[in-house]
Amino acid sequence: MVMNFFEAVEKRRTYYGISKDKVVSDERIQEIIEHAVKHTPSAFNSQSTRVVLLLGKHHTKLWDITKESLRRIVEADNFSSTEEKINSFESAYGTILFFEDSSVVEYLQREFSTYKENFPIWSQQTNGMHQFVIWTALEIEGYGASLQHYNELIEEDVKKEWNIPRSWKLIAQMPFGKPTAEPGEKEYGSLEERIKIFK
Ligand SMILES: Cc1cc2nc3c(=O)[nH]c(=O)nc-3n(C[C@H](O)[C@H](O)[C@H](O)COP(=O)(O)O)c2cc1C
Repeated sequence: MVMNFFEAVEKRRTYYGISKDKVVSDERIQEIIEHAVKHTPSAFNSQSTRVVLLLGKHHTKLWDITKESLRRIVEADNFSSTEEKINSFESAYGTILFFEDSSVVEYLQREFSTYKENFPIWSQQTNGMHQFVIWTALEIEGYGASLQHYNELIEEDVKKEWNIPRSWKLIAQMPFGKPTAEPGEKEYGSLEERIKIFK
């Protein structure tokens, strides 16, 4: 699909209705992730973002881990809606995990102590930029995605399951798949209130 930058930015939405149907090759998804990780900017060019692509049984395992972790903390009476939500993510084609390497952040804090307080904030911002690039790129390919945050709940199990380095901090999960339902109308706040221009 040919889309200019602003069309792609506009068309990227949160898709909850997604299926396991393949839209493009796994190699193409890998290419998108590699391109994003190589070219997305980072504070001090720190390149602190780490990305893990889970497909097939690995993707299913992630949402099993999440479901079982939630089962331990959500009251049994209320669990069915939680389970339904997690099943909707499990119904996706794959999931992309976003991490930040805390060893890189800590190194920068030591090296540039004047900005010590800023590096953790910039690290989050850097990660968000990667999320946006990949989310929008998936949209161009015809996949719909959403952004989820079960971080603290699943981080230990995720690290164990996929042998993820201790220093990688889990930031977000992005399930993606073939859209089965379009997102609803989006409301937009007034641009006049959100933008000031001086010329
Ligand atoms: C930083 C950030 C965090 C978000 N966290 C979640 C989340 O935890 N769960 C979720 O379902 N959507 C999450 N979203 C999606 C937003 O709710 C969604 O982007 C917003 O409502 C606008 O809708 P759109 O994505 O369709 O344009 C997040 C989005 C951003 C940018």
